[in-house]
Amino acid sequence: MQNNNQQPWWKNSVVYQIYPRSFQDSNGDGIGDLQGIIDRLDYLEELGIDAIWLSPVCKSPQDDNGYDISDYMDIDPMFGSIKDMENLIARANEHNIKIILDLVLNHSSDEHSWFVEAKKSKDNRYHDYYVWRDGVKGELPNDMKACFGGSCWEWVEDLGQYYFHLFSVKQPDLNWDNPKVREEIYNMINWWMDKGVGGFRLDVIDQIAKEPDLKITNNGPKLHDYIREMSRETFQKGDLITVGEAWGSTPSLAKLYSNPDNSEFSMVFQFEHIGLDQEEGKEKWDLAPLDFIKLKKVLSKWQVALHGYGWNSLFWNNHDLPRIVSRWGNDKEYRVESAKMLATVLHCMQGTPYIYQGEELGMTNVKYQVDEYRDIETLNIYEERTQKGYAKEEIMKSIYAKGRDNARTPMQWDSTDNAGFTKGEPWLKVNPNYTEINAELALKDDNSIFNYYKKLIALRKQYPVIIDGKFELLLEEDPNIFAYTRTLEDTELLVICNFYGETIGCTIPEQYKKDKELILCNYKQSVSEEVLQPYEARIYLMK
Ligand code: NOJ
Repeated sequence: MQNNNQQPWWKNSVVYQIYPRSFQDSNGDGIGDLQGIIDRLDYLEELGIDAIWLSPVCKSPQDDNGYDISDYMDIDPMFGSIKDMENLIARANEHNIKIILDLVLNHSSDEHSWFVEAKKSKDNRYHDYYVWRDGVKGELPNDMKACFGGSCWEWVEDLGQYYFHLFSVKQPDLNWDNPKVREEIYNMINWWMDKGVGGFRLDVIDQIAKEPDLKITNNGPKLHDYIREMSRETFQKGDLITVGEAWGSTPSLAKLYSNPDNSEFSMVFQFEHIGLDQEEGKEKWDLAPLDFIKLKKVLSKWQVALHGYGWNSLFWNNHDLPRIVSRWGNDKEYRVESAKMLATVLHCMQGTPYIYQGEELGMTNVKYQVDEYRDIETLNIYEERTQKGYAKEEIMKSIYAKGRDNARTPMQWDSTDNAGFTKGEPWLKVNPNYTEINAELALKDDNSIFNYYKKLIALRKQYPVIIDGKFELLLEEDPNIFAYTRTLEDTELLVICNFYGETIGCTIPEQYKKDKELILCNYKQSVSEEVLQPYEARIYLMK
């Protein structure tokens, strides 16, 4: 049964995120590339996904692995060429898979020709493409801090001015108040649309309307005007999926972003659930145990608030986040069970699920020596905290738990050298567990995490209640169980998951003790309806 086809296609779609430099290398240089992705399209079709979100592949000095673009209309040679991209779009289409590009519009690289020109003089026509303040060397315009450490302001001696950068010094922020910047961006987006891409993910989009003098970064006053204008000038001319990265989003802002009138985006990534295992008011590196009750309440709040008014994105993982099975599951004795349980919790909610490469294999976090990490954020926090006097073990504990390279280790394809990712030297060390955790083994095993994801994706296509049903959280205060229902007309789905590694009693509410059909479970056999084994997850259809 297909979903009501009046709906946008992305409402019953599942998106797979590829971090291109770590997915598949086809030419032996140790870095994944577009041809490598083409070579793996059969695998992705087998999984059943509808679209691929590619982290940036445009030309870039790679200071932040491509999130620092020096030419928006060219592909970085390390990944291939424009021809390869056209080929990828066409070949993916043959597999019914759309390609979603990552648009980094808050900042460019300092090696972008616009910035090279902008730095030449105050009256250069590109000077105003960036955010500048006059000043005196050593007297910063204010104390705003960049995300990768240090000040947001960088001095340019020849101009007697500071430029603003929310991320590294090599990522100067674009000035969205300048209509010429917006026009260049819209032309570029339309150019990619003409090439047949299926949509865009918009990097830190809630920061584009910053007001540095007021120390406003997220949700600046002109943000939604700019987004609506961009949508009108570009996205609305196609049938696209668009997803904005919006760390500062709230459910009411998300209703604007994902307004069903299509005036902004299809949806946003919100991160409220992602911050629930860090000390309140501190940084992600300041670890705290997960507040499970809060996790349920937060996810439920988003489900309820957007139902009928907007659309959720559903994700545990991306290229910036640690591996979920290591984070909130158990990557040792219950790796398989807990990975499937976490997938169940997420995939039965309302919204568009995103699977990050390797999540479908239950890939895990890594513990490397400092000099084996490559991520700018990880290396900078190590330096910063060392200088502040933190003990090395404490810093490493944070990096093991939250470092971005956890997600970026090469995809584990098989048990051959370097997990079949490259014939050369991988740019980042492969997780040593690749001989036990890899795609080749997963495809052969009926009980693998991969095959469970495949079933979850198939269920989404089969049951409209998973797409459109109303969400209700059950057992809100239960310290172990994540349970909820989805209801659409007379169809009701019941999801019950044991979020932890102990066997527990399943205190299912009376009205659900009646006749029901178990449509998926991560154990071959349940002990009984009243008992949940470690990380047991069940999906029932009520009769
Ligand atoms: C968010 C991206 O996901 C991250 O990887 C990147 O470092 C920053 N934006 C800066 O572009």
